[in-house]
Amino acid sequence: MTTAAVRGIDAATTTNAQLIDWVREIADLTGPDEVVWCDGSDAEWDRMTSRLVEAGSFVKLNEKKKPNSFLAVSDPDDVARVEERTFICTADETGAGPTNNWVDPAEMKSTMTQLYRGCMRGRTMYVIPFCMGPLDANPPMLGVEITDSEYVVASMKIMTRMGTDVVKLLDERGDQYVKCLHSVGAPLEEGQADVAWPCNDTKYISHFPETREIWSYGSGYGGNALLGKKCYALRIASAIAHDEGWLAEHMLILKLISPADEVHYVAAAFPSACGKTNLAMLQPTIPGWRAETVGDDIAWMRFGEDGRLYAVNPEFGFFGVAPGTNWKTNPNAMRTIEQGNSLFTNVALTDDGDVWWEGLEGDPQHLTSWTGEDWTPDSDKKAAHPNSRYTTPISQCPVVAPEWQDPNGVPISAILFGGRRKTTVPLISESRDWQHGTFMGATMSSEMTAAAKGGLGQVRRDPMAMLPFLGYNVGHYFQHWINVGKGADADKLPKIFYVNWFRRGEDGGFLWPGFGENSRVLKWAIERIEGKAAAEETAIGYVPTPEALDLEGLDVPLADVEAALTVDPEEWKAELPLIEEWFEKVGDNLPTSMRDELEALRLRLGA
Ligand code: GTP
Ligand code: MN
Ligand code: MN
Repeated sequence: MTTAAVRGIDAATTTNAQLIDWVREIADLTGPDEVVWCDGSDAEWDRMTSRLVEAGSFVKLNEKKKPNSFLAVSDPDDVARVEERTFICTADETGAGPTNNWVDPAEMKSTMTQLYRGCMRGRTMYVIPFCMGPLDANPPMLGVEITDSEYVVASMKIMTRMGTDVVKLLDERGDQYVKCLHSVGAPLEEGQADVAWPCNDTKYISHFPETREIWSYGSGYGGNALLGKKCYALRIASAIAHDEGWLAEHMLILKLISPADEVHYVAAAFPSACGKTNLAMLQPTIPGWRAETVGDDIAWMRFGEDGRLYAVNPEFGFFGVAPGTNWKTNPNAMRTIEQGNSLFTNVALTDDGDVWWEGLEGDPQHLTSWTGEDWTPDSDKKAAHPNSRYTTPISQCPVVAPEWQDPNGVPISAILFGGRRKTTVPLISESRDWQHGTFMGATMSSEMTAAAKGGLGQVRRDPMAMLPFLGYNVGHYFQHWINVGKGADADKLPKIFYVNWFRRGEDGGFLWPGFGENSRVLKWAIERIEGKAAAEETAIGYVPTPEALDLEGLDVPLADVEAALTVDPEEWKAELPLIEEWFEKVGDNLPTSMRDELEALRLRLGA
């Protein structure tokens, strides 16, 4: 029996009996004071943000600097995705594969049901109807998130299409939506004061791909709590895509326009905090070239009727890494957040009510750091957390491509894989064919960043930048990529490249300036597709000669560019045992074609 009062677009509005039953069941289990159905309106945003300001969870920023924007600082232990606490719960352990944490679904549900029992006491339970990707997609990819966090409601308004319009679609689609349950796990007893960032030391981020459900407990951080993003649009969607023959990938989508007005769309997979958002909003430094943004984190790709691969961005906002973002590295991100209507998490507060983070312009003499302490330039601690983020609407991006909401997506000409490697991996190399490109993706590696807890700086294999986001067995995933290629017309498939913006020279500095200058590398890739650019064949693929890159006006010593492009067979021979070790880990489900590619590479290296 539900004792909680119900408000908002409630049972009187939705006719989806199955949905009403589920909401009632969760309210009975979690015991909130009231249940509110979210409508996604501006009035609702005002209610949520005011409530958070009153509770001391949000600071309203200076209206003149960042209109309608707020700062939230989290519990110091709830600042990133928790991969150790992320689970893929399939009936059979093989379904989750060797790279995911697995627990039997019934066992996980039993454990978490105990945690959820009464966990929303003293709080409001919000019901968020949302859609990943355009509402007019066929089919629309629906979800409902139940949460006890106002921070989640406010963030979901920016990151997804949510509210009343989605309820209409839910009414038509029965149980065809992903059930997302989230609680911060911090019930309030009668008279108990709330904390600014409620969360629980016990955390579970659990996925049930077979029944399309997500259960999250104990964390308020974006990737753990905004369940439409990593949990749905990558982990659950990758499993759906595997069943249905399409791809759900951790990729940005960029539109490039040449001086001759030719348009190419590029998708690129880099691990977390390795440059997707920056490349997605690229401001080219080469004259005449323009770039527009379609997406900065996730791409859903399906074949169109013409046999080309089309990509859709399922998101509605950017959840971008703040540190390092500035008017030089990413002016378009700065122009997007400057318009306001944004949330900032774990950045520093200036004395005049604006935000600041390491790498941003300005020379603040005093700040309130993300941990609430006084900060001065002499402080030995960072003012902003390295994984601090801005949450801002894509629609505000001054270079958003007009077609960013096209339900059919945009046709992809090139796919880039890339990681953060100090050594070995050249600025760019082109694969020999789709299978070799799949091998590049399957064996890509990167130094770990602050976007996930633990392991900072260690090199690990991160296949297609999907290691933390794959909802099924990684061996089956590689086979799926190969099958996608086999089912297609080879000359309509995107060409696959492997890039590395992060190679370092002897002095420890980056060899390549990156950011806007990456347009030079993209130009070469486009010209390869058009059959116009020269390349040198190496053991690992086709690499540009320095002459083949457009370096006009680039203020970098040629020796550095050459070093960035170098393929050193000795360095690559040292990679072979690491790839071997990784393939051992992938185990029995590794496609034989991936092993064939490794042997072919070994031969070409003469190892
Ligand atoms: P997620 O949103 O976590 O998936 O990460 P992301 O791939 O979007 O990473 P993002 O673009 O936010 O980049 C994160 C870090 O990489 C920042 O510190 C950037 O300054 C740095 N970065 C991005 N592009 C480049 C580049 O071309 N060269 C160098 N040296 N650093 C870069
Ligand atoms: Mn990401
Ligand atoms: Mn990003």
